[in-house]
Amino acid sequence: MIEPKKLDLHSLDIARQQKEKLKQLFPEVFTEDRIDFDRLKQTLGESIDTGKERYSMTWPGKSDCFKLIQSPSIGTLKPARDESVNFDSTENLFIEGDNLEVLKLLQKSYYGKIKMIYIDPPYNTGNDFIYPDDFKENLSTYLQYTGQVDAEGRKFSTNTDTEGRFHSKWLNMMYPRLFLAKNLLRDEGLIFISIDDNEVCNLRKICDEIFGEENFIALFPWRKRTAKSDVPYGVSQDYEWIISFAKTESFNANIKSNTRKYYESPDLPNRPWRIHEMTTHRTAFERPNSNFTIIDPKNGKEYPANKNAVWRVTKESFKKFYKEKRIVFPGDYDFLNISKPVLRYFKDEDKAKSENSFGYTSVSTNLPKNVGMTQDGTKETSILFGSKIFYFPKPVNLIKHFIQMSTTIDKDALILDFFAGSATTAHAVLDLNKEDGGNRKFIMVQLPEKCDEKSEAYKAGFKTIADIGKERIRRVIAKIKKENNQSLFQNQLDLGFKSFKLDSSNFKIWNTEGISPEQEALEKQLELHINHINPDSSQEDILFEILLKAGYQLSGEIKKIELAGKNVYSVKEGTMLICLENELTKEVIKAMADRKPGRVICLDQGFANNDQLKTNAVQIMKSKGIDDFRTV
Ligand SMILES: C[S@@+](CC[C@H](N)C(=O)[O-])C[C@H]1O[C@@H](n2cnc3c(N)ncnc32)[C@H](O)[C@@H]1O
Repeated sequence: MIEPKKLDLHSLDIARQQKEKLKQLFPEVFTEDRIDFDRLKQTLGESIDTGKERYSMTWPGKSDCFKLIQSPSIGTLKPARDESVNFDSTENLFIEGDNLEVLKLLQKSYYGKIKMIYIDPPYNTGNDFIYPDDFKENLSTYLQYTGQVDAEGRKFSTNTDTEGRFHSKWLNMMYPRLFLAKNLLRDEGLIFISIDDNEVCNLRKICDEIFGEENFIALFPWRKRTAKSDVPYGVSQDYEWIISFAKTESFNANIKSNTRKYYESPDLPNRPWRIHEMTTHRTAFERPNSNFTIIDPKNGKEYPANKNAVWRVTKESFKKFYKEKRIVFPGDYDFLNISKPVLRYFKDEDKAKSENSFGYTSVSTNLPKNVGMTQDGTKETSILFGSKIFYFPKPVNLIKHFIQMSTTIDKDALILDFFAGSATTAHAVLDLNKEDGGNRKFIMVQLPEKCDEKSEAYKAGFKTIADIGKERIRRVIAKIKKENNQSLFQNQLDLGFKSFKLDSSNFKIWNTEGISPEQEALEKQLELHINHINPDSSQEDILFEILLKAGYQLSGEIKKIELAGKNVYSVKEGTMLICLENELTKEVIKAMADRKPGRVICLDQGFANNDQLKTNAVQIMKSKGIDDFRTV
């Protein structure tokens, strides 16, 4: 019998993918699909570090991080329509679940698709909960977690100093998540991570390793509060940090400039210009050729160089620039208040230099005052909910600042926050789109961490932090709709989100991790002969699992059509057709093939053990040039 191929229901196989990358770079070191390490060593020659002592960062459990990264997820994301807003049309997502499993599940569909990640993970202060990953049983750990007790009935607890391995536990939680998150970034993508003094050094080190030291962008200091008195050692730690790394050197930050001002003057009609300082931060010792006295040829007035901050030009380039009218002296124009000669840049040249970056300037690590402090974040959520619903949310403007610098030009970028908390990042995305008419989309991931029963949130009816995040997005959407019904962009704004929940797969997936090849073959054989769909699963649950496992984004448009009397889902303008009917017919197979999609997926049980129909189906698809016909 000719069998259709099976859809792989596991998440992306990271180890295999890394091997493929290596194979592309060094095909010569592979023999029969295995890596010949001796040959790899020879190929790399002197770059191999053979010494006993080497520069690296390590901690107990680091090697298990790689096992965790490599163990595939066998879970799924189940849609929750009733919690969503505009489910069918929105491209924004809120995913409730442990972010490690979710990041694994997103690998196939969102690999290289995200422009900007902002995260605000637990800082490891001794009071926060650190998720207990388990590479063999991570999904069942999660399902136990949602019941809030582990297999022995113990409560999941916070990471405290007294337990030992305090930093290691936090690093073991962060490393695999950052590793998987990097895969999701586009080449021009970047990540921002909020952190305080507790783990800032460790975080910088693991990011150096994961993203590459050369891709370090900056450490932004953020003033979170005004100084406290009565603190240990008498020093109030009033700053936190935002560490930022690029995926590759293709990223370039910029922000719309409000300060760039062009002048017009009668002596240079039609050539507006701006001025720029002509000193640098270099000393006379560093730049001897720029240490000279400038003389204004019009009146002989002298301007000696400052020995600690010499001119930006040399004597020769000064002469050239003067001839080209690129130097402005004090007194040349009444409207300019300058005490030293300055450089002049023309608007037409600015524009020609880069059409895209015209009107934009680079960004300082010094954050603008309006980013706000913790008290502003608390105020924003308290106003939205009418009570203090969440402790220490970030101010919306802070996150907006980072989104803006990453997406000023790229206004339909995809933005991810996988420690979403109260969903401040989603709030910032919605606000910024409202302000500049952008079409940025967000993906929020948040654990259903239980709210303390004594908290304001619990009293207000929120059982988990994920519930708070979702409700915040609903309230922000309602507020934007109310305030902006006249706005220019109102109709174009994506004011919705699709809600999903991490759960076990709708299919019985054989977890072949750690079992013998004979056993694996036997289980695969068994798999062919039993109904392996969870009877409680809805068609929509199955549909979204197929999308995810086939590498399609969860936000794409899906149309339900009828072909030969059966329901068929048409995905991405008909490039993939999915039929989840339990009784397939030759007619529906033919009708799907006639549409010539790139890919067709049907339920295996739809063939109801009719091997003849299955064989025919493969042949019908082949005859229409459809090679990618699979069953689940
Ligand atoms: C510091 S808070 C983020 C606050 C957020 N920036 C805001 O402004 O509301 C960190 C959040 O990460 C969540 N978290 C911790 N471990 C997680 C995990 N394994 N998966 C998903 N979320 C997690 C916690 O529940 C917490 O709400």
